[in-house]
Amino acid sequence: MSADAEDEAATGVGWSQIADWYDALVRSGRSPHDLAVATTLALAGDVAGLRVLDVGCGQGAATRALAAAGAEVTGADLTPELVAAARRLEAAQPLGITYLESDAQQLAELPDAGFDLVTCQLALMDIPDLDATLAAVRRVLRPGGSFVAVISHPCFLAPFASTVDGDDGLPGRLVTRYLDEEFWRSPNPQGVRRAGAYHRTLSTYLNAFVRHGFTLEQALEPPAVGEHAREQPVYVRVPIFFAVRLRSGVTSGRR
Ligand SMILES: C[S@@+](CC[C@H](N)C(=O)[O-])C[C@H]1O[C@@H](n2cnc3c(N)ncnc32)[C@H](O)[C@@H]1O
Repeated sequence: MSADAEDEAATGVGWSQIADWYDALVRSGRSPHDLAVATTLALAGDVAGLRVLDVGCGQGAATRALAAAGAEVTGADLTPELVAAARRLEAAQPLGITYLESDAQQLAELPDAGFDLVTCQLALMDIPDLDATLAAVRRVLRPGGSFVAVISHPCFLAPFASTVDGDDGLPGRLVTRYLDEEFWRSPNPQGVRRAGAYHRTLSTYLNAFVRHGFTLEQALEPPAVGEHAREQPVYVRVPIFFAVRLRSGVTSGRR
């Protein structure tokens, strides 16, 4: 069963249902996407001439930025409506991006060792099987290639976490069930997380990266800036994202 079908089975709302809304949100600039894209680019470094795969690309926010920075980019996503939105944007402003429908847990359409860099912006927590996804990413990366992943920070965007003022008068995040690894859905009818997400602890992510033969090169917990900081001041001192640049080992990953 696809991730979207699993989500729909749970409550009837999946990525296909919110695809138009999500595309409009990202294009509106109201979401923290500028920060996510800036974080992906900062970790990716100089991508000019690199073969890059953007996994879980959605409507292509990071994909387009990587292509504009000179990479030869493929975007892959499981949701047909978001791949269609990405293709429409590519047709309107061509950057030479190839988009395909593909499940990140297999990336079956893509060859072994075909990419210098794989990126995954705000999608790892939306994909049910983290081990399968990392194995697929590892397979399509050339030995020594890099993997850049940006995720919702699991320490602060845990299920049903809320924003509250602390004793110092500053807004913070109240997290009550960090250790419960579960599929959860935000009750916010205007939130991205109404499509559901797989909450995992930070150590689960880090241990999975190690298990699949990745080594950590850099981590970022970027603060909100500009309009995002004015709209969501809690994320100025509490990071909304956790992001890593990993290096794929030259021998096969341990399972
Ligand atoms: C929060 S969106 C992020 C999209 C894009 N990277 C961005 O930054 O806007 C999560 C994406 O994960 C995709 N996704 C969920 N499960 C997937 C899977 N098994 N394989 C590929 N993509 C998947 C969804 O279709 C959606 O586009």
